[in-house]
Amino acid sequence: MRLNSPSLNIIYKACNKASKSLIRDFGEIEHLQVSSKGPGDFVSSADKRTEQIIIDELLKAHPDYGIVSEEAGEINKSNKEKRWIIDPIDGTTNFLNGIPQFAISIAYEENSEIVSGIIFDPIKNEMFFAEKGNGAFLNNSRIRVSNKKKLKDSLLVTGGPKFNSGIKKMIFDEYITMSNEIEGSVRKFGSASLDIANVACGRFDGYWQRELRYWDIAAGLIILKEAGGIVNLFDSEKKYPFKCNIIASNSNIHDELAKKIMKKNIE
Ligand code: IPD
Ligand code: CA
Ligand code: CA
Repeated sequence: MRLNSPSLNIIYKACNKASKSLIRDFGEIEHLQVSSKGPGDFVSSADKRTEQIIIDELLKAHPDYGIVSEEAGEINKSNKEKRWIIDPIDGTTNFLNGIPQFAISIAYEENSEIVSGIIFDPIKNEMFFAEKGNGAFLNNSRIRVSNKKKLKDSLLVTGGPKFNSGIKKMIFDEYITMSNEIEGSVRKFGSASLDIANVACGRFDGYWQRELRYWDIAAGLIILKEAGGIVNLFDSEKKYPFKCNIIASNSNIHDELAKKIMKKNIE
């Protein structure tokens, strides 16, 4: 795997170290699934354990850099110029149920712009990574978004709503409308970072979702852009803890997809 920038190297090391414990923890889930207690508490400690390994590694490299992480919140809050954005397990519900569709997502942001990022699926051993200006990769291969020309032929992915979102009904309606309007299909895989990564490598043609957090998509933003895709963060709230709405796709279908989603936004 080709890693050029220092930030990407640091993320890679942190990711690699954390993934070893995460894989071990995932192995435990199978046993806990059938136990009377269930895996709930174990998963939340696996989440924290993974996060701590990542944070320790990142702080070892740069003790003064800012960190925004899902469970730990903000660290070195005053450093907004250089910061890491972490989701230790993206796809917790899958993880909890023993479904191998989750990832570690870590991005590096400089002056409010994501410049590098890694999304690592430790079970499939797929590492998606990119740095600004140098393309996007899946393990050793360069990746690009699909070349699908029409929205109606596309395979789309979406997610949410999480918990009892106030716009729950709207999200379900939107899913049904989009599924009816296109001849292709709309799927839900339960890991926002992998959804974007899968658009970046052309498996899906487009992705949209409302009410995400920045850590769900930060690494995905640079990977998708470097893979030639287009991202629209419509009506997003940029202050911590962030609320992000995203449309991400190949460039051919982007306008058509954005028009349909944003129209629903206005209604
Ligand atoms: C969730 C996943 C899921 C998305 C949710 C996210 P988590 O992250 O990315 O795909 O639909 O909105 O919160 O909780 O598993 O880290
Ligand atoms: Ca997440
Ligand atoms: Ca998470």
